[in-house]
Amino acid sequence: MAKIKLSMPNLGNARSRLEKNTPTYHYVINKEYNDLGKDKTYFIYTYGCQGNEADSEVIAGILEDIGYTRASEGTEADLVILNTCAIRENAENRIWGVLGNLKGVKAKRKDMLIAICGCMPQEENATNKLLSSYPFVDIIFGTHNIYDLPKLLYEAREKEAKVIEVISTEGGIYEGAPKHRENKYKAWVNIMFGCDEFCTYCIVPYTRGKERSRAKDDIINEVKDLVAKGYKEVTLLGQNVNAYGKDLGTDYTFGDLLYDLDKTGIARIRFTTSHPKDLDLKTIYAMRDCASVMPQLHLPVQSGDDYILKKMNRKYTHQEYLDKVNILKKEIPGISLTTDIIVGFPNETEEEFVNTLKLVDEVKFEGAFTFIYSRREGTPAAKMEDSITEEEKHARLDRLNVLVDKYYLEGNKRFEGKVVKVLVDGISKNNKDNLCGYSEHLKLVHFPSKDLSLIGKIVNVKIIEGKTWFALGELVNE
Ligand code: 5AD
Ligand code: SF4
Repeated sequence: MAKIKLSMPNLGNARSRLEKNTPTYHYVINKEYNDLGKDKTYFIYTYGCQGNEADSEVIAGILEDIGYTRASEGTEADLVILNTCAIRENAENRIWGVLGNLKGVKAKRKDMLIAICGCMPQEENATNKLLSSYPFVDIIFGTHNIYDLPKLLYEAREKEAKVIEVISTEGGIYEGAPKHRENKYKAWVNIMFGCDEFCTYCIVPYTRGKERSRAKDDIINEVKDLVAKGYKEVTLLGQNVNAYGKDLGTDYTFGDLLYDLDKTGIARIRFTTSHPKDLDLKTIYAMRDCASVMPQLHLPVQSGDDYILKKMNRKYTHQEYLDKVNILKKEIPGISLTTDIIVGFPNETEEEFVNTLKLVDEVKFEGAFTFIYSRREGTPAAKMEDSITEEEKHARLDRLNVLVDKYYLEGNKRFEGKVVKVLVDGISKNNKDNLCGYSEHLKLVHFPSKDLSLIGKIVNVKIIEGKTWFALGELVNE
């Protein structure tokens, strides 16, 4: 098979941040590729964060524009795409496992194309392993190459070549790309791409490139369009949404954007992810003042210890984090706060870990994603000495989770007897007689009903019982 190596990843280059403005392009698919997917099907496996989910919606949109239709299962598709995550080693191990299974499928279906994209191909090690151990993968493309997909497919199909295109520094922002949104009522809206924080444990600034904000009018118009189509909720996406606009050279900030989006008529606005250092008063006031901005915030703290926070390059202290939390709780009474926490950062002592437990007690997070530190090649933390045993790291994770679960439960129990507004998602997975959805505070709520016309509507539900992971309620007419 011919090999077309357009470009290979390089983590060193990915670290560079050129002082150039990001150009915005209007996305147009070359007519030459219009029928590339005629009579062919595709299937996308998506792993990782909401950023990847949003990217998969663009990939699906592009594929459908050039004639592909969606297959009901990956094993039946003519084109299988794995949109991957590189944040932790176990995320990558999952992908290697899926690829192993696909090998057998492809052996029986020689004409199937397999493509891999997302964060993993941005890493040299992963791409080299893909090339040496997974020769049946036809196309490898990076996070900055999504918009080239028709060209890559053309090369792979027409020239029967293996195609690798992973550029390490970001290109421009593309507006107007087709999207196949997975949900009719809730939409992801990217407001920025990339990350300039370089937390020492994190691979994202290398895989996603420098911070680039979309123009505010493009975002506002997208949300207006969603309102016109009947959408009820948008989640604004960025690795650090609080840095929105910093690269645009104007004084328009994330808080301003929230105030403007509130005027579009969208019922609910959420956003993720926030960096505590950049969360400013204007954003907090917008959360307080704008009825559409939901009283819920995911504010990753990572650690409650000042020395570990410094080693992580997080640029705030335990107390500074608490100070922001106190302002949030004062300005937005009843706000639900959730977080991300890493245990077992290199050489974290028992005392340093206990400072994290203290912070959880002080803030009373109503949910947390908790992780054991995972060494990522190419990041500064990968070179730090680490003498904490795996056993100790697991024990700490267990201790942390016990505490986190206690506040999860309290966070649901506090709504018992109260009426909450639920945007109905659909039938509950474990009980076909129930519907489920999320409240304003992002609590998962189940309630008995078989009225499918409620899906996509915001209904009043009285909470009967708060459990750890969800709440049970009943519909009320208020
Ligand atoms: N090891 C463990 N957790 C990590 N995260 C990011 N990088 C790592 C890593 N190397 C976690 C952080 C971040 C979340 C998305 O993933 O908590 O907020
Ligand atoms: Fe990673 Fe830190 Fe950027 Fe979040 S802010 S994506 S943890 S580098």
